[in-house]
Amino acid sequence: MKLTSFLKEIDYNKEELTYLIDEAIRFKQLKKDKVLHNYLTGLNIALIFEKASTRTRAAFTVAAQDLGMNATYLGASEIQLGKKESVVDTAKVLGSMFDGIEYRGFSQEALEDLARYSGVPVWNGLTDQWHPTQMLADFMTLKEHFGKLEGLHLVYAGDGRNNVANSLLVTAAILGVDITILSPESLQPEQAVIDLAHKHNTGSKIKITSDTAAVKGADAIYTDVWVSMGEEVDFKERIDLLFPYQVNQALLDKTENPNTVVLHCLPAFHDTKTAIGLEIYEKYGYESLEVTDDVFQNHADIIFQEAENRMHTIKAVLYHSLKD
Ligand code: CP
Ligand code: NVA
Repeated sequence: MKLTSFLKEIDYNKEELTYLIDEAIRFKQLKKDKVLHNYLTGLNIALIFEKASTRTRAAFTVAAQDLGMNATYLGASEIQLGKKESVVDTAKVLGSMFDGIEYRGFSQEALEDLARYSGVPVWNGLTDQWHPTQMLADFMTLKEHFGKLEGLHLVYAGDGRNNVANSLLVTAAILGVDITILSPESLQPEQAVIDLAHKHNTGSKIKITSDTAAVKGADAIYTDVWVSMGEEVDFKERIDLLFPYQVNQALLDKTENPNTVVLHCLPAFHDTKTAIGLEIYEKYGYESLEVTDDVFQNHADIIFQEAENRMHTIKAVLYHSLKD
């Protein structure tokens, strides 16, 4: 398999996404066994970040280095992109120097233009619309935990219109994993995203609902922050709207399944040990938002396994984009 770019999930089919997940599992084992895999020595990649990142930046950097490549971080506030130079001109310049470009930003269109005009593979490190490398890590983690993806039922609880919800909906459909998006009506996915999920569905039961009873039997409950990077909304209004969908013990009890796992792409507001978490606590009295601390801690092993898997999956994407 040879990837060109990795811009969004719907560009790939079930076999291709499954292959990338399996390749990530292979790379994870190589790393664990301390087997060198610097197959791409001498190549250079650029990492453009218009939004903050811990996992994605670290994962691209370490994956590139393990493959023998050099990775150059280009923070958006430090380069000309968008301010003094267009996406198209930037793409042509970077494409002449780098073998591939990662981009995390706001606009999916800008990402696609980078791919179109740079002439090198471009990887989506998150846009307002999609978070495809996150998906590979999430479904890899489910596959490691359950030993399979077939027959699983994944429920996403929270803001059903954000990048992670969009990506989970279409990726689950492509992979044939049952998916429920559990959100208040005003935050349910756009019809265009639901239509894409149906168009690419390989046998998944797709459900969009505001009824928390839908978690019954869930194998995994996934949540994400209630306000995404770059969103300008009234925080209190959003919290009030999403509180009924907080992943807490009461919601887990409704699964009637003692083996349900909890996933989170991270970062998570599960306590008051962050500046924003503390500010919310002092202003409104909430100690946690999308997931309570007890639930987060009970499922911390798989949540941090999911974070680690960002690196192995991104490595698989880089390798299959750049190998000869
Ligand atoms: N999950 C994720 O993308 O994390 P970062 O924002 O830290 O990269
Ligand atoms: N929906 C979140 C995901 C962070 C990894 C955001 O876009 O901020």
